Amino acid sequence: MLAEDKKMNGSNEEREALTTRQGHPVIDNQNIKTLGNRGPAMMENYHFIEKMSHFDREEVPERVVHARGTGAFGYFETYGKVGDEPVEKYTRAKVFQGAGKKTPVLVRFSTVAGSKDAPETDRDPRGFAVKFYTEDGNWDLVGNNLKIFFIRDAMKFPDMIHAFKADPASNVPDPRRMFDFVSRSPEATHMITFLFSPWGRPATYRHMQGSGVNTYKWVNDKGEAVLVKYHWEPKQGIRNLTTKEAMEIQGKSVGHMTQDLYEAIERGEYPEWELYVQIMEDGYHPELDFDPLDDTKLWPEDKFPWLPVGKMVLNENPTDFHAQIEQAAFGTGVLVDGMDFSDDKMLQGRTFSYSDTQRYRVGANYLQLPVNAPKAKVRTNQHRGQMSMRTPEEAGGNPHINYEPSMVGGLEEADKSERTPHNPEYSGKVMSEPIDRPNNYGQAGETYRAFEEWEREELIANLSDVLSICDERIQEAMIHHFTQADEDYGRRVKEGIEAKMKELEEKGDDNRIPGQEAGIKSKYGEG
Ligand code: HEM
Repeated sequence: MLAEDKKMNGSNEEREALTTRQGHPVIDNQNIKTLGNRGPAMMENYHFIEKMSHFDREEVPERVVHARGTGAFGYFETYGKVGDEPVEKYTRAKVFQGAGKKTPVLVRFSTVAGSKDAPETDRDPRGFAVKFYTEDGNWDLVGNNLKIFFIRDAMKFPDMIHAFKADPASNVPDPRRMFDFVSRSPEATHMITFLFSPWGRPATYRHMQGSGVNTYKWVNDKGEAVLVKYHWEPKQGIRNLTTKEAMEIQGKSVGHMTQDLYEAIERGEYPEWELYVQIMEDGYHPELDFDPLDDTKLWPEDKFPWLPVGKMVLNENPTDFHAQIEQAAFGTGVLVDGMDFSDDKMLQGRTFSYSDTQRYRVGANYLQLPVNAPKAKVRTNQHRGQMSMRTPEEAGGNPHINYEPSMVGGLEEADKSERTPHNPEYSGKVMSEPIDRPNNYGQAGETYRAFEEWEREELIANLSDVLSICDERIQEAMIHHFTQADEDYGRRVKEGIEAKMKELEEKGDDNRIPGQEAGIKSKYGEG
């Protein structure tokens, strides 16, 4: 608790009377109505039944991924420029126009695999989702702290998440399942290299970067488009944890990142990030040894420099976690005029998934909740459904006409002439095939070599630790992937696994958490 926390230490504010949700004053909130003061309860216990039945429905399903999270409000301030050039050259999105203009934002940070109350010290990518309440409607930039991802095709995402979450039989998290999947997915080598280094455990949400990861498009007034990648750089600096540091924190708190963000904002230490973009002409780019739309790759900074476009400040905590953070709904489909989708296969798959899950998780009218509703005007014929709160204003001027087109009234399409469309041209065969230029290992090796020696040491120790309990086939496959990335990397992981296995054998230890089933290796069958 904060020292000067008036909310919990008492204040002299005038207190208001409790009511039911029907607005009736509650004169007894301690005793249910019974026959005599010991007797059976009455069916007419309206206040009790309302109170209890509402409590029984207090939770919505947690997010299928990124369930553990926290968030805050603030603003984004545009520089009106992209690097030294006017931003209008690349995008007509109003959120970036006019230096100094502020747009309100909501940010939700999260871990990925753990459930709603999982430890925030877990080795896991961190979500970095930003909702911009722009004058043209909402824009969501749903990113992570790391700039790349494990897979490049949305088809693999459900399997990946199944492998990363707890064993479906025992409900025990088990890294062998994760590495079973990863060993058959060589494109994950780069992301695993980041994740098992200290970069897989940021110290706080305030001290981590963010990235859109997938590639989007910016569209200008003429309808011309470029490819764009977004990156957030924390002004507080970057801090990551070693495994030892993380374990020490975990012994004291499983929610240290949530607490850190909340308390910093309460203290008035508002965290800030600068937003950068990388820009590339749309196309195949044969000069690159990777596909620019492959989200397992970084765009080299020397060829595609980071260009600053604005900054974000978080200066307001939520007052109701459930209403403002748990029910917040972000999605990659939520773009504004001046932005578009690239052909990135992950982005395309994600764009279906987010609103689909939110209709289930929060409900069909999730966009009417204050935290999700745009601050721009909503005028729509989409109506009804559970808990609809659509106002007559949203329905437009004529309450009888809930369809479009109409000769006589109601809502009509916005003026098309104001927006020159971006109409990309396509010709090709429809197919289910992997991309050319997978280059699964090149950048993984570069990242390994770019780490400082203490980061490499952590990486090798962390990998050796988890791989030492894996099936031999998985160990061999992983050593192969790391060797392809960098010979030194593969050799050190191999030696690390061997040393760890020897150590465990000598101790008669199977490296399992006490109480868990031993000798699980055999479950996978013999080689
Ligand atoms: C959350 C799907 C890849 C970042 C979610 C949710 C789903 C989902 C269903 C839960 C949303 C909700 O309940 O509101 C997918 C699919 C992916 C994918 C199908 C790949 C095909 C990615 C990637 C990133 C990412 C590559 C990083 C850029 C996030 C974040 C959240 C999230 C930050 C949490 C949003 C929040 O705070 O509410 N994803 N995801 N996802 N995803 Fe993804």
